[in-house]
Amino acid sequence: MPTSQDPAGTATLGVLAEAVLPDGRALTLRAAAPADAPAMVEIIHAAFGARPLLGARPDALNETTATITQALLGGTGYLAHVAGRPAGAILVSQDGAAVRLGRVSVHPDFQRLGVASFMVRGLLESMAARGAGLVTLLARREFPRLRQFWESHGFRLMGEEGNCWVLGLHLPVVAEVPDADAMRALGRALAPLLRAGDLVIASGDLGAGKTTFTQGLGEGLGVEGPIISPTFVLARVHRSLVGGPALVHADAYRLGGFAELEDLDLEESLADSVTVIEWGTGVAEALAPERLEVAIRRGLDPADETRWVFLTPRGRWRREALAAAVAGLGESA
Ligand SMILES: Nc1ncnc2c1ncn2[C@@H]1O[C@H](COP(=O)(O)OP(=O)(O)O)[C@@H](O)[C@H]1O
Ligand SMILES: [Mg+2]
Repeated sequence: MPTSQDPAGTATLGVLAEAVLPDGRALTLRAAAPADAPAMVEIIHAAFGARPLLGARPDALNETTATITQALLGGTGYLAHVAGRPAGAILVSQDGAAVRLGRVSVHPDFQRLGVASFMVRGLLESMAARGAGLVTLLARREFPRLRQFWESHGFRLMGEEGNCWVLGLHLPVVAEVPDADAMRALGRALAPLLRAGDLVIASGDLGAGKTTFTQGLGEGLGVEGPIISPTFVLARVHRSLVGGPALVHADAYRLGGFAELEDLDLEESLADSVTVIEWGTGVAEALAPERLEVAIRRGLDPADETRWVFLTPRGRWRREALAAAVAGLGESA
């Protein structure tokens, strides 16, 4: 995590994401250091130079090693490599309370491989982990496909600036969770924010910690235990011991889709319970507009037990309340 001596967090970030292209070449993303400026200039010039020229020569072609070094010292940047060759670049600067992306570019030699989407996904996770709330960028109106690209990553139109669309995305609140006890503590800390009618959709691989998180939620809500994986039962109701809402805990792992989810009759109990659905992403959203999406990820090092929990509020949920609950957790630890 970033410190005041290292505001960009670059020293600790290292490789942020990795993937393998269909042709077997390795794709990596890492934070850029000032020494990367020449490679970034080359990518930016090649990428923007290859775009059709509409009106004025793009500003991006005026970037030099000096201007990029300056940008990296004042903000941060990301660099993608394909098989060790610099392939993609993004600059990030502070824009009031938001962070703004700029010079998003993929070298023409590496276009149409998914490098841009890979960079954007990794960058958004990294920015969220560093506590950023809102990410914005400018997209030239002459390039409607550019706007579609960003919308496919969740960005929405927020305004206009000159000949550009201003696109923005609210990032999830991120909690760093070192072990299972901390995962239960996170669930307990979020429980006071939940009320009857809320839906929590938990996602993450098998063993990520979805049930462990739900145990904490159950403790915080004061419901009857034990909360265990509902895999074979599909749904369990845990009554409140304190006069509050019940916790309905369901597992969508074995369900074929929304029709089967509907067969669980969760809608019956939804209004006066807190409903948690593991593996619910893609099917359970239709159940309720008021929901908290909890995505649990492991880091790249398999020996590290740390989980990263991405909390995305939908509906009445306020990002600030979630952020405060997560921050309070770090202080009491
Ligand atoms: N940081 C962590 N957060 C959550 N669980 C952890 C963590 N580190 C280790 N574990 C262990 O990983 C397992 C998670 O299991 P579970 O919660 O059932 O996962 P899921 O429901 O996502 O399949 C538990 O055995 C838990 O003790
Ligand atoms: Mg489970």
